[in-house]
Amino acid sequence: MQASHSLRPPAFEIESDAPAWRVLPEGRDFSPEFLELRPQIFGWIEDYYDRDHLTRAGDWMLAVEPEAPEYLVVAALLHDLERKIPGGPQLEFATVPWSDREYNDAHAGRSAVVVPTWLTAFGADPDLALAVAQPIREHEFGGSPDGDLMQAADSISFLETNADLIAGWVNTGRCTPEKGVEKLRWMGERVRHPEGGKIARRYMERSIRQFEELQTER
Ligand SMILES: [Fe+2]
Ligand SMILES: [Fe+2]
Repeated sequence: MQASHSLRPPAFEIESDAPAWRVLPEGRDFSPEFLELRPQIFGWIEDYYDRDHLTRAGDWMLAVEPEAPEYLVVAALLHDLERKIPGGPQLEFATVPWSDREYNDAHAGRSAVVVPTWLTAFGADPDLALAVAQPIREHEFGGSPDGDLMQAADSISFLETNADLIAGWVNTGRCTPEKGVEKLRWMGERVRHPEGGKIARRYMERSIRQFEELQTER
């Protein structure tokens, strides 16, 4: 299936059983507030370097859990956005493990402050702004049922869209090929949600193959 995406197509074809890009599932009603906010969110993430990953995290949230509450879809679409604000935590990823608790907690915790602040500033429902914080805080390690869904959507989306990002880090010398593969493995193997974990592991294998192809193209 070919993705319909506004600025650039995804680096790789999406799988035939993957959700369509930015298409809400049929047969489910969403609130008018959500339907108004969602296109605004796409506007906010338009110039974010990893916009495809955020977009697909929202799509995969609903693919993994078709009845996911709206706040979880909003949280998925915005979960990494602290990186848009200068001054955030940095992972020395040539040497520090991807699963580093201090870095990941700082990153997720900062997003859990930035995103509700943005939502409030843009006039979103205060209850929604409150509800996104905890799942965003848990998106790297999971924990609660909401957090586990967030982690699954984050991992699957990352593995679907970012093999080229990791290959770029390796090809520009920011980390070794081994460290690049470790990132993809961590994203796949960490997933706690049972169904989400199966999908993530499938995309992990695919992303490692894509990564290796991009390596040989150097
Ligand atoms: Fe993240
Ligand atoms: Fe993410």
